[in-house]
Amino acid sequence: MKLFDVYPLNNITIVRASGSSVWDDAGNEYLDMYGGHAVISIGHTHPYWVKRIEDQLEQIAFYSNSVMIPQQQELAEKLGRLSGKENYQLFLCNSGAEANENALKLASFHTGRKKIVAFRKSFHGRTSLAVAATDNPAIVAPVNQTNNIIFLPFNDVSALQACFKAQGEEIAAVIVEGIQGVGGINVATDEFLRAIRSNCDQYGAVYIADSVQCGYGRTGLFYSHDHAGVNADIYSMAKGMGNGFPIGGISIAPHLHPKHGMLGTTFGGNHLACAAALAVVEVMEEENLMEHAAALGKYIMEALKTMPVIQNVRGVGLMIGFDVPESHKDLRKNLLSKHRIFTGEAKPNVIRLLPSLALGRKEADRFLSALRQELLG
Ligand SMILES: Cc1ncc(COP(=O)(O)O)c(C=O)c1O
Repeated sequence: MKLFDVYPLNNITIVRASGSSVWDDAGNEYLDMYGGHAVISIGHTHPYWVKRIEDQLEQIAFYSNSVMIPQQQELAEKLGRLSGKENYQLFLCNSGAEANENALKLASFHTGRKKIVAFRKSFHGRTSLAVAATDNPAIVAPVNQTNNIIFLPFNDVSALQACFKAQGEEIAAVIVEGIQGVGGINVATDEFLRAIRSNCDQYGAVYIADSVQCGYGRTGLFYSHDHAGVNADIYSMAKGMGNGFPIGGISIAPHLHPKHGMLGTTFGGNHLACAAALAVVEVMEEENLMEHAAALGKYIMEALKTMPVIQNVRGVGLMIGFDVPESHKDLRKNLLSKHRIFTGEAKPNVIRLLPSLALGRKEADRFLSALRQELLG
C-alpha cells in the first residue's frame, strides 16, 4: 500500500526534536519557527511532558468515556484557572476541526437555529460543518455544501450589523478566529469582536471563538479574544493543547446546558491525552510562557519592522505574519535550504511565524539574522 498523496512535502525526514530544534536523519539541526504548524507550545519533547506521558502510559493509556476519568476533571480545573474561565465547562475531543464541529452543533442545539455566520479568509477545519464554514471552496466537497453558512467580510462591523438586522432570529452562531491563521495572520479588531458579542447578545446567537491556532497562550493572553475584553460563549482549542499529542476541546459558558448523548467521542479525553494536556498547562504556568510569548513576540515584531523589504508586519505575541515582495519570493525556501529554519506560509506571499512559546531570545536572534542576510545580502 502507498500513502494517499495529499500533502506537498519537503524532502526532509525529521527524526528527533528538543525545544525549538529538530534534526533530520543526516544529523542536521533546524530551527523550528513554525512549531509544527502552531502545535508545539512548551517545546518539543519537553522533559516534564515526556515524563508525565510515560508515567500515565505505565498506569493506563485508554478507557472509554463510560467510566470516571479523574484526569479530565483535573484538566478542566487547571485549564479553567489558566484561561480565566473557571465557571466554563470542558468537552474534550481530538482535533481542531472536531472542536469546531462540536461547537457549531452545540450552538444549533442550544438555539434551535441553523444559520452560521463565518468570515472571508476563515479556516475552521475539514470536517463537514467546519469545512462548510471555511472560506475555501476548493476543500468543500459537494456533500459539505450548505445554504446555512453566511460569509461576511472580516473586520466589517457594518456588514455584521446589517446581517443581524436582516436575519438575526435565524442565526445560531458566529464563528470567528481572533487572529486568522491560514488566512494570512489577520488580526480581528477589538471593535469587531465587541460588535460580535453585542449582536450575539441582542439576537440570542452563540459567539464561537475559534482559538485552535490563536489560542492557548500564543498571543500572550490565553485566548486572543481576551485582548478585546470580550467573553465568547464557546472557545474551541486544539493545536498547542497537547504539545503534539492529539487533543482538542471546547470550553463552554455556563448558560449552555449539557444533555446526555448530546455530544460524544470514543477517544476524546482519554487518559494519555489528558496527561499530555496537563503537562502543557502545568509547564505554561511554571515557566510563565504566556508572558514570555508576549515579550518575545514584541521583540521579534519590532526587529521585523526595521527591515524595509518586508511589508505589513502584523500579529500578536508569537503569532506573527509579514508580506514578502515578489523580488524575494524564494525567501521561505532559502530560509529552509540555506539557514535550516522552518517557517510557515499563507498564500500568496505571507510568511507565518508560529514557534513554540518557549522559543529563546538567542533562537529569535538566529532567525532575525538569517532573515537580514537574505533580505539585505
Ligand atoms: C483556526 C483553525 N481552526 C481549526 C483548524 C483545524 O484543526 P485540525 O487540523 O486539528 O482539525 C485549524 C488548523 O489549522 C485552524 O488553524
